[in-house]
Amino acid sequence: MTGYGKKSYIHKILSGVILGSMFFMMGCSSVQETTLPNTETDIQEETVWNGVWTEEDKETLRYVFEQDFDGYAGVCLPEAAFSDEQRMELAYRHFNYVTMENEMKPETFLGHSPKIGEDGYPVLDFSKADSMLEKLAQYNESCDMEEKQIRVRGHVLVWHSQTPEWFFHENYDPSAPYVTSSVMLERMENYIAQVMEHFYGEDSKYGDMICAWDVVNEAVNDTDGMLRADSSWFRVFKNERFVVKAFVYANRYAPDEVKLFYNDYNDTNPTKAGGICRLIDKIKKDPDARIDGMGMQGHHDMNFSVYDFEEAVRKYASVVDEIQITELDLKSSEGYRGENQDEEYLKQAYVYKALYDSVKKLVKEEHLPITGITFWGTDDGNSWLQSANSVGGSADGKRQQCPLLFDASYGEKPAFDAFVRPQSLPVRIQTATAVFGTDFSSAKAFDMQVEKTKVQVQPVWNEEGLSVRLLVVDNSESDADQITIYVDPQDSRKAGAQILTATVKRSEVKSKPTRYEAVIQIPIEQLQASRTLGFDVCVTDNGVTGAWNDAELMQEKTSENYGKLILE
Ligand code: GLA
Repeated sequence: MTGYGKKSYIHKILSGVILGSMFFMMGCSSVQETTLPNTETDIQEETVWNGVWTEEDKETLRYVFEQDFDGYAGVCLPEAAFSDEQRMELAYRHFNYVTMENEMKPETFLGHSPKIGEDGYPVLDFSKADSMLEKLAQYNESCDMEEKQIRVRGHVLVWHSQTPEWFFHENYDPSAPYVTSSVMLERMENYIAQVMEHFYGEDSKYGDMICAWDVVNEAVNDTDGMLRADSSWFRVFKNERFVVKAFVYANRYAPDEVKLFYNDYNDTNPTKAGGICRLIDKIKKDPDARIDGMGMQGHHDMNFSVYDFEEAVRKYASVVDEIQITELDLKSSEGYRGENQDEEYLKQAYVYKALYDSVKKLVKEEHLPITGITFWGTDDGNSWLQSANSVGGSADGKRQQCPLLFDASYGEKPAFDAFVRPQSLPVRIQTATAVFGTDFSSAKAFDMQVEKTKVQVQPVWNEEGLSVRLLVVDNSESDADQITIYVDPQDSRKAGAQILTATVKRSEVKSKPTRYEAVIQIPIEQLQASRTLGFDVCVTDNGVTGAWNDAELMQEKTSENYGKLILE
C-alpha cells in the first residue's frame, strides 16, 4: 500500500495554517502548538476567546459537565436534525461533542452497492459527513468560548452491523464466497487509510474537529465474553486478528492526538466487561497498535445497577487511559404504556442521577478517567428506541419509550434536572402492593438493591397485621448484615409519627453463604383493603445501609419520605 500516511496532515498541522483554530480539549489536549511560523503567509491571527459563562450558560449540560468532572457533554445527531431549528438550538445550547448517528458508518461511506476505483478498492462517499461537519464548523466559528465549540467522535470504522455485505466477498459480490483474511486485511487497511486521509489529509477542512474514533464497535458477545460470531468480520477471520489490526491501521493513519476507542454495549455486564478487557489486552500486546479508550455505550434501563457500573469502570480503567459513556439512554420500565408519566419521568430522573453521582464520585474520589458522556439523541421523539429493531440494547416495540433528557416537544424533563439542578428533584415516593392472605408465593414482589446486595420484598397482610418475606442475595456474610422494616400505619408522612419497626439480623435466620431469607411480622390492628401504609425497608451489608425509598436514611426520625404500601 502506498499513498497513505501521516505526512500530509502532519504537514498541515505543523504548517500553522490551522494554528489559530487548534483548540483541542481533554481528549485532544496533548496538542498545544508551539511551532513558529516560518513564512509571513503562515502568520494567523490568534483566536481571541472573549466570552465568559453567563448565568444562562450555567443551566446547560456542557457547563455542568465541565464543572463537575471536566468532561464533554455529547449528543448524537443525524443529518436530518440540521433542518430542525429547534432541535439544533438545543444541540448548540447544551452540547460540545457530537457523534453522527449514521453518517460516519461504513454503510454510508461505502454505499449500498459497490463503486470500485481503478486501484481495485471501494471509492468512499464522504458527502453526508462533510456537510454535517461544515455546519458544525460554521457554528464553531460563531463561538465566543473554546468550551462551547463542538468536537466530533468518529463513529465507527469496524463493525459487524451497518457495513455492506459485499465488502467481505470476492469481487465485491455478496453472493460470491468470502475473501481470504489477507485480502480482507488489505481492504480494511485501505478503508481506514482512505477515511483518515479524507479527514486529516492536506485538503481536509475538518480534521481538527474530529478528536476520537470508535475503531471497533461491538466485537464481543453478550453471553461468555468471547468474540461475537454473527459478524462477517468474524466469519472471514475466525479470531480476534481483525480487531487488533483495526487498531494497528487506525494508529498508522490517524494523527497521534486523535484518541482511538473500542466501543460496546451491555458494558456493565461483568462477564462481557471481562471479555472486553481481555480483548483490549490482546490489542495492547501488538506493538504497532494503539488503543486509548473504552466507549461504554450505556444503553441502560430502569434496572441500572450502580454497583455493576462502577465495577466495570474500574475494570476498564485498569486497561485503558480514558473512558467515555458514548450512547447513553434509558429504556422505560417494564410494561410502561404511557400512564403515570410523571412517576415514570421521576423514576428515570433518579436512575440518571444515580449514574451521574457515580460518575462524579469515580472521577473526583477515585480519579478514574471518565472524559465525557454522550446521549444517544437530543429528545424522546427522535430516539432510536421509538422503533423496535434487533440491534443490541434496542427496544422491543411493545412499551412506550421516553429515554432522553428532553421530551418530544424539546422541553426539559426531570431527567435533565438530574444533571443540571439535582436539588430541585422532588423526593420520589414509590408505591408497592400487599395482597391479602398469608401465602408469600402470591405476593406482588418488588426488588431493591444496595451495592451488590439484591433483595426481593414480598409483602402480604391479614387481620392481624403485615407480613413481609425478604429474600436477600448477599454473598459477603458479615455479623452486621441485617434488614429493618418501617411502617407508618396512618401514612402520616411527618416527623415524630407513630412508627412500627422490626429488625432481623442475618445471624438469627436461615442463611446460606450466598443468601438469606427472613420473614418479618408487624401486628397492626384494623387493617382493611385499599388502606395505604407508609412503608420502607433498610438493608445493611458490609457496613453499608441502603433503603427502598428514603435514601437519606431518616426513617427513625420522620416518615415523610417513606414509600407507600397499598393493601389490596
Ligand atoms: C449501536 C451503535 C450505534 C447505533 C445504536 C442504535 O449502539 O453503536 O451506532 O446504531 O446501536 O441506534
